[in-house]
Amino acid sequence: MIENVLPIYVDGRIYDQVFHGTADISYWRTQLEGIKGDALEVSCGTGRILLELGAGNRPVSGLDLSAGMLAYAAEKAQGRGVALDLHQGDMRDFDLGRTFAAITVPNNALGHLYTRHDVEAHLASVKRHLQPEGVYMLDMFVPNPAFLTQAATERSHMGQYTNPAEGAVIDIYQSGYYDPAAQIKHATWTYQRGDTMMREEPFALRMFYPQELDDLLFYNGFEIVAKYGDYDRTPFGSESKVQLIVARVR
Ligand SMILES: C[S@@+](CC[C@H](N)C(=O)[O-])C[C@H]1O[C@@H](n2cnc3c(N)ncnc32)[C@H](O)[C@@H]1O
Repeated sequence: MIENVLPIYVDGRIYDQVFHGTADISYWRTQLEGIKGDALEVSCGTGRILLELGAGNRPVSGLDLSAGMLAYAAEKAQGRGVALDLHQGDMRDFDLGRTFAAITVPNNALGHLYTRHDVEAHLASVKRHLQPEGVYMLDMFVPNPAFLTQAATERSHMGQYTNPAEGAVIDIYQSGYYDPAAQIKHATWTYQRGDTMMREEPFALRMFYPQELDDLLFYNGFEIVAKYGDYDRTPFGSESKVQLIVARVR
């Protein structure tokens, strides 16, 4: 499975230039403050969140499929003098040989679980790594009908980065189509230098509708103890754009 890393997750230096939001950091800091014991971030990427949490000398562990993302997380951690415990592995089947007081899956990484089998295998791995009173917390956006019904020809500007090798500025545009049967948005990311197209890359994300996500947790033996609809902990409701779930094993 390691070879199945999506192209945008191959080089952490590029990922960090394109995805550098901070809106969720204080949410995760507060959620983990109240927890006694170690935390594991599943799909930790380049440590965008993990490094902020580790800065308080709290022991933090991370797992990710991509060697390139983890390598950049380790490089940044060394530069900042933060100790991270990083592991390469698949969120659908990992074994770190220990348990945690909290396991988190931030920033829509759940969208890389494309089938029920993927979800169930992930939740089984989580269960094996949770302490008896441990919490499982995730952040997954609410599917946005406008995003899903975009015409395949419509392009939106995703972001920009400077190529670390040659210093050229590259723009990324997204187009794509939604498969309503599989609930997967299949995007094509076009990388352009000025008007010159450099390359195209695929990016696929599975949608999780709110009741479906709650039901998947329930039928896999989890109890939802809180569900927020915003990083300020507004309760989840009809206007919510994100699903912030806090769950325990029943
Ligand atoms: C949107 S990024 C989030 C990274 C980080 N949590 C953050 O908030 O910046 C999703 C991450 O999921 C990882 N990923 C995708 N599929 C995975 C899998 N099956 N197992 C573990 N990690 C996976 C990717 O390598 C990528 O680093």
